[in-house]
Amino acid sequence: MNILLLGGGGREHALAWKLAQSPLLGKLHAAPGNPGIADHARCHALDMTDHGAVTAFCNDHGVDLVVIGPEAPLVDGLADSLRGAGVSVFGPSQAAAQLEGSKGFTKDLCLRAGIPTAGYVRATSQAEALAALDSFGLPVVIKADGLAAGKGVVIAETADEAREAIIDMFGGHFGSAGAEVVIEEFMTGEEASFFALTDGATIVAFGSAQDHKRVGDGDTGPNTGGMGAYSPARVLTPELERETLTRIIAPTVKAMADAGTPYSGVLYAGLMLTEDGPRLIEYNCRFGDPECQVLMLRLQSDLVELLSAVADNRLAAIAPPDFSPDPALTVVMAAGGYPGTPVKGGMIADIALAEAHGAKVFHAGTIRDDQGVLRASGGRVLNVSARGATVRAARDLAYDAVDAIDFADGFCRRDIGWREIARESE
Ligand code: AMP
Ligand code: GLY
Repeated sequence: MNILLLGGGGREHALAWKLAQSPLLGKLHAAPGNPGIADHARCHALDMTDHGAVTAFCNDHGVDLVVIGPEAPLVDGLADSLRGAGVSVFGPSQAAAQLEGSKGFTKDLCLRAGIPTAGYVRATSQAEALAALDSFGLPVVIKADGLAAGKGVVIAETADEAREAIIDMFGGHFGSAGAEVVIEEFMTGEEASFFALTDGATIVAFGSAQDHKRVGDGDTGPNTGGMGAYSPARVLTPELERETLTRIIAPTVKAMADAGTPYSGVLYAGLMLTEDGPRLIEYNCRFGDPECQVLMLRLQSDLVELLSAVADNRLAAIAPPDFSPDPALTVVMAAGGYPGTPVKGGMIADIALAEAHGAKVFHAGTIRDDQGVLRASGGRVLNVSARGATVRAARDLAYDAVDAIDFADGFCRRDIGWREIARESE
């Protein structure tokens, strides 16, 4: 089977690495790819917003399956265009990707289907939003409705902060994503991520993870796309996982199918584990980054078989995914300045040395210059990942690898996995 993988970050490198292990794989193409992905795939410059060009590429290269990594092309309807041209796709339709593309859409669906989540109000004007504030306590959560690269959420501790966030969003701070806002009740508890594969009818659990969103040690400093992650999230016990599947995931998949817009792909649920059980914070319509990296390190099943079964509505016909019980952990090495403007072009060396003891280094924001030198090209640059008998063992292996890498302009958090490691020592 020939596959085209779209995307060029650490998530896609982990997917490429795992796809390449399958005996079912013929040729692997990637666009745009990155130097890590290039170890497993032929990388192409292809404009994902040009649906005609992607379809033509598939026809020209005999592509049997397209795997779409990031959310933007999904929300933009690329999966629909490809399916319309007879190409199999792993990833939801534009209508189904609204689960990530519009927070208000998801909240309304939860309300209709009785799915546990925070109470909310949708507002399409500043006056409406400010008036709605009165019905919430503090803190209160203000969200831009659309895609905002993980940045469109403000947890306001005071009424003034809440008003300011609303004025900013309607003032265009998040572009068109903030043309509508959702105001939410603040939930307390521990957060965990849960993944499920579905072809719109059959649902299979696809592991859990926890990430570290803040840039600094001790969960301090500004939010990022994620500075590290580990899997599984043991706080999500088998009972809580069952509850998540029956009370959150299954009713969502059913509601989408009933609406005539079945969801097909990976459904990534951000959960708050409250005293009253798991409640949905938000959905994403793709794998998490860097959560995917730790899932792929633990996955023992054939990824080509799984993703093509999802794409072709055959999930019920194959064995459910099998994961190693051993935990995996990933440490993000970022370029100085991140999550602000990162320093570009920093030299990176000694990845092979870092991997010599069993760690795996996934490339996120890297490029190879004309001389073949590996350089940083983005905020999050490398995902240094390892599996071990315990989270502590995985962490030690990952940090040994971090210390072997020569990346003078880079930095990382030194405490990835701290919560889980503290629990292991209890
Ligand atoms: P989201 O982009 O919706 O996942 O929100 C980003 C982060 O904001 C989440 O990971 C939570 O830490 C926090 N958050 C979002 N919504 C809520 C809520 N209703 N209550 C408490 N925290 C929230
Ligand atoms: N790591 C969070 C995300 O992928 O949305």
